[in-house]
Amino acid sequence: MWRQGKPIRHPLLEARWPSVEEAARSVLFSPIKVGGGVLESRTWVPAMVPWRATEDGFVTPDIIDWYARFAAGRPGAIVVEATGVRDVASGPLLRIGHDRFIPGLRNLVEAVRRESGGHTRLFIQIIDFLAVKRRPPKDKYFARFFKVKPHHRDKLAEATCNDDWLDASEADIRAHLTEAPDELLDRVLDERELESLRYGYRERVTDTDLPHIRELPQVLPGFFADAAQRAREAGFDGVELHYAHAYTMASFLSAKNNRAGGYGGVRENRVRLPLEVYGAVRERVGHDYTVGVRFLGDEVIEHGSHLEDAVYFGVEFARAGFDYLSVSKGGKFDDAKQPKVGHAVYPYTGRSGYECMPTVVSDERGPFGRNVPLAAAIKHAVNEAGFATPVVTSGGIATFEQAEAILGRGEADIIAAARQSLADPDWFLKIRLGRGDEIRRCVFTNYCEGLDQMHKQVTCKLWDRVNLDEPGITMSDDGKRRLVPPKL
Ligand SMILES: Cc1cc2nc3c(=O)[nH]c(=O)nc-3n(C[C@H](O)[C@H](O)[C@H](O)COP(=O)(O)O)c2cc1C
Ligand code: SF4
Repeated sequence: MWRQGKPIRHPLLEARWPSVEEAARSVLFSPIKVGGGVLESRTWVPAMVPWRATEDGFVTPDIIDWYARFAAGRPGAIVVEATGVRDVASGPLLRIGHDRFIPGLRNLVEAVRRESGGHTRLFIQIIDFLAVKRRPPKDKYFARFFKVKPHHRDKLAEATCNDDWLDASEADIRAHLTEAPDELLDRVLDERELESLRYGYRERVTDTDLPHIRELPQVLPGFFADAAQRAREAGFDGVELHYAHAYTMASFLSAKNNRAGGYGGVRENRVRLPLEVYGAVRERVGHDYTVGVRFLGDEVIEHGSHLEDAVYFGVEFARAGFDYLSVSKGGKFDDAKQPKVGHAVYPYTGRSGYECMPTVVSDERGPFGRNVPLAAAIKHAVNEAGFATPVVTSGGIATFEQAEAILGRGEADIIAAARQSLADPDWFLKIRLGRGDEIRRCVFTNYCEGLDQMHKQVTCKLWDRVNLDEPGITMSDDGKRRLVPPKL
């Protein structure tokens, strides 16, 4: 986990929980129109990947239990985890890239309807991502992946003061580089080759020499539109286009996107494909269906997009007709830690990852409501431009007073809580029932995120070893943790 320079350990915010009457009068528990529908309250469980799909991307009984458990707490909305729009293998991540995924997704929708008594709206986050390979062992990299080119010979000859390398065999060059110290490799390999060796090969939207990357603007609108149509057929109330964090659409929006051909460079070009994807989705699902977007208020990386870009994107998204704007922060590959050999780089291990899911070990500002100013600036600009598109904020929000103050100050329209909802999926319900004192409070130390990083089934340390003798509970693959929190 990335640590702040001079870390400060913050206590949890003091919480005063409201009476039933106060909660009933609150803005948090007042309804809000989102697209063609209405949320009964401004409470929201944002997307969280729980690593419970089959290897083929299908819904499992464990996924249904997971969402049903959140639904029992009756938030205004739940967003189902990032779900792949393509029909390609992607491990135990949900997929919606073919009609065969619809029946499982429909079962999930029905479970949420049933458990929430029809009180919770259900959206699904749809995502595209590019290839990220595991970090290879050095010998394998030089034997299989490294392409020997004339400039490598030149650089090797220069670095070693030995012209024999100019016409040495490829096998000798590979063997020599396999044994070479880092200093020599730094002089011979280019930046991308060093990255592939030390972090694992990772595609970029700017790799337009690769035909499948070049054609992204031609294929992505169709993939997203097909996926959105399937979501509608499965019964979801709407789709959330995933334009945040480390994935394809966020990479188009990024200030680092210098792709030629009209889809990179200035902001107007970087937002072009995201708007074209939206246009294709909207055309397919119609105007009565909710289409939202999650994007970054700040990438928090060197040469990346900052709030000014995000404000521009937010206004353009509102103008285009998105039904809500959900603002996140960071979560990039660019500053991620080097993975161990055999592991893939994980976009939540650097500073930008910290900013996405901040912990109590922080700087002076601490983790609580840390990302609200981004949402507030975007909301302000969107409203100034004449749009009323609801803005969703997230990041370290875990008490009633905090949520109510954010809404009261007009900094956001909807409060999303990922980890607090994982710690206690009934927390919104407990507040409404005047039972706030019974809330199991998230301690924001990111045990759950650590499991996500290892691609293990996500659970919370506050409940995953509690009442393990309870009849009928399901356990994690390692047999040590319950997969669903105990009931109220
Ligand atoms: C285990 C885990 C998985 C997550 N998966 C996703 C995801 O699929 N899509 C997404 O946009 N955000 C994802 N997030 C980020 C959360 O939606 C949220 O933005 C972040 O945790 C900050 O909010 P919080 O402080 O309320 O937890 C995930 C977070 C966690 C802890
Ligand atoms: S594991 Fe820790 S950070 Fe995650 S939800 Fe539970 S208490 Fe919060």
